Amino acid sequence: MAANLLLLYLLAAVASIAGAAEVNAVLAFKRALVTIPPEAAGFFATWHDGATSPCNFTGLACDSRGRVTAVSVRGQGVATDSVPFDKICASLPALTALALPENALAGDIAGVALCTNLHELTLSFNGFSGPVPNLSPLKNLRILNISSTSLAGPFPWKSLLSMRDLTVLAVGDNPFLDPTSTFPDEVTKLTNLTALYMSAANIGGAIPPSIGDLVNLVDLELADNNLVGAIPPEITKLTNLRGLQLYNNSLTGQLPAGFGNLKKLQYLDASMNNLTGSLFELRSLTQLVSLYLFFNGFTGHVPQEWGEFKELVAIFLYSNNLTGELPQSLGSWAQFSSIDVSTNALSGPIPPDMCKQGTLLKLLMRDNNFSGEIPATYASCKTLQRFRVSKNNLSGDVPEELWALPNLTLLDLAGNQFTGGIGDGVARAAALTELYLAGNGFTGVIPPSIGAVSNLEVIDVSSNELSGAIPTSIASCSKLRTAKFAGNKLSGVIP
Ligand SMILES: *[C@@H]1O[C@H](CO)[C@@H](O)[C@H](O)[C@H]1NC(C)=O
Ligand SMILES: *[C@@H]1O[C@H](CO)[C@@H](O)[C@H](O)[C@H]1NC(C)=O
Ligand SMILES: *[C@@H]1O[C@H](CO)[C@@H](O)[C@H](O)[C@H]1NC(C)=O
Ligand SMILES: *[C@@H]1O[C@H](CO)[C@@H](O)[C@H](O)[C@H]1NC(C)=O
Ligand SMILES: *[C@@H]1O[C@H](CO)[C@@H](O)[C@H](O)[C@H]1NC(C)=O
Ligand SMILES: *[C@@H]1O[C@H](CO)[C@@H](O)[C@H](O)[C@H]1NC(C)=O
Ligand SMILES: *[C@@H]1O[C@H](CO)[C@@H](O)[C@H](O)[C@H]1NC(C)=O
Ligand SMILES: *[C@@H]1O[C@H](CO)[C@@H](O)[C@H](O)[C@H]1NC(C)=O
Ligand SMILES: *[C@@H]1O[C@H](CO)[C@@H](O)[C@H](O)[C@H]1NC(C)=O
Repeated sequence: MAANLLLLYLLAAVASIAGAAEVNAVLAFKRALVTIPPEAAGFFATWHDGATSPCNFTGLACDSRGRVTAVSVRGQGVATDSVPFDKICASLPALTALALPENALAGDIAGVALCTNLHELTLSFNGFSGPVPNLSPLKNLRILNISSTSLAGPFPWKSLLSMRDLTVLAVGDNPFLDPTSTFPDEVTKLTNLTALYMSAANIGGAIPPSIGDLVNLVDLELADNNLVGAIPPEITKLTNLRGLQLYNNSLTGQLPAGFGNLKKLQYLDASMNNLTGSLFELRSLTQLVSLYLFFNGFTGHVPQEWGEFKELVAIFLYSNNLTGELPQSLGSWAQFSSIDVSTNALSGPIPPDMCKQGTLLKLLMRDNNFSGEIPATYASCKTLQRFRVSKNNLSGDVPEELWALPNLTLLDLAGNQFTGGIGDGVARAAALTELYLAGNGFTGVIPPSIGAVSNLEVIDVSSNELSGAIPTSIASCSKLRTAKFAGNKLSGVIP
């Protein structure tokens, strides 16, 4: 009996010594912080110096034996030049999650290699610098997130081979990592990955065919790198993908045959590459929410099927060589916000229903060959901020209320064959800063109500059929810096 009691007492003593070591390690982290902003004071209020256990500290979790299993200090804005990772890792043997993202933590991270039981290591959005240590002791990692830091030198790609359970790998936005000459193959061995964020990580070479082995990927982000060559056909095996970001690389060739198998894709951005060929493969991606393909060399027609896409809210295709007509029901289903198809060779009418749900902000279609009139539907699109259809083949009168849209900052109708007058309602265009009407057949007078457009900075009505006097009221537009009236039948002087 006495022996049992003694044993219990000893166990309790050992536990409390261990507990004290855990408290000390956690408080050592707090003491290392040189800045705890006032907003974070509440978070740290429970982190008492005299505590016998850290299990009640905000942001911490413990197991049933009172050992710390998680330290999570997210977005508290705390700052230091040195986090005592070695002490934390050595003193918290049960630690499985260390998450310190979105702070101002700096210094090296060498000590994290001692945290061998970690399932999650999240150090993203901090100022950590120095090399990324060999992480192969962290065999149980499921989440490794070191995006947006100042870590430098070579990334230890080989360490990844010991992390068989990794589901999230985020190493992007690390501009100081050494450039790679090839795509790190180790990454494509991690077949449990659901998210791979490797944008802006100085990755070079071609996307390897083995990318197709990552069949569990939901999100694949490889943008802002130095990737070359074609998008490999094997990418079409990634049928769970919802997001694919490839923008700002030097990818060439066509979208591979079978790309249309990626039926769950919602967010596709392959802008700023040298991709060519048609958009035909994209006709079956019915879940698309946003589509960014600007600055490429795509040719051919926009698939008519896009007109039936129920989730589409944004489409950016500017600076390609697209021809043919846009689907007339484009943008009519979801809360459509933006279209930019400028600088292509598109023709036919402007689709009339892109503001059907009353959410359109930007309609940018300049430098094409669109014809017909501006659909009357846009005259009631009160959300519109930018309406730019210059250098097309549009004609007819401009719908009266288009002049009066309350949030419109830019109205650019230049270089078409528009006729009729400039609407008096322009006085109600309270947000209008730039008005480009040059090179059309506008007639009548410049309405004196223009003087009420108090935010107007630029007005260019040159080369039209305008007549009468330049209204003196324009002197009330105190922000006006550019005014062009040449090539009309106007009289009087610029006030
Ligand atoms: C944690 O907080 C609860 C409630 O405030 C308290 O009852 C308990 O004793 C505390 N535990 C420790 C180990 O401090
Ligand atoms: C994926 O995870 C499972 C379960 O953790 C594991 O058994 C398997 O080995 C992992 N796959 C790979 C390729 O490592
Ligand atoms: C990495 O961490 C940041 C900051 O918490 C988070 O926003 C981001 O989504 C994470 N990346 C991945 C791929 O989970
Ligand atoms: C393209 O990516 C490079 C490398 O990350 C970056 O420096 C550059 O600013 C990016 N360009 C654009 C237009 O975003
Ligand atoms: C596309 O190719 C042209 C000519 O080959 C090259 O000048 C340009 O930099 C390339 N653009 C990109 C984004 O790789
Ligand atoms: C479009 O085609 C013209 C003529 O074929 C070519 O000069 C131009 O570079 C192409 N533009 C793009 C963005 O590929
Ligand atoms: C513009 O489209 C019309 C048909 O609407 C066509 O006749 C004309 O050739 C096209 N012009 C250019 C420059 O593509
Ligand atoms: C106009 O812009 C303001 C300020 O951005 C916004 O609050 C308002 O909802 C907008 N109006 C419409 C009709 O979208
Ligand atoms: C403008 O459109 C008309 C038909 O509406 C067409 O006949 C004409 O060729 C087009 N002009 C240009 C320059 O493409």
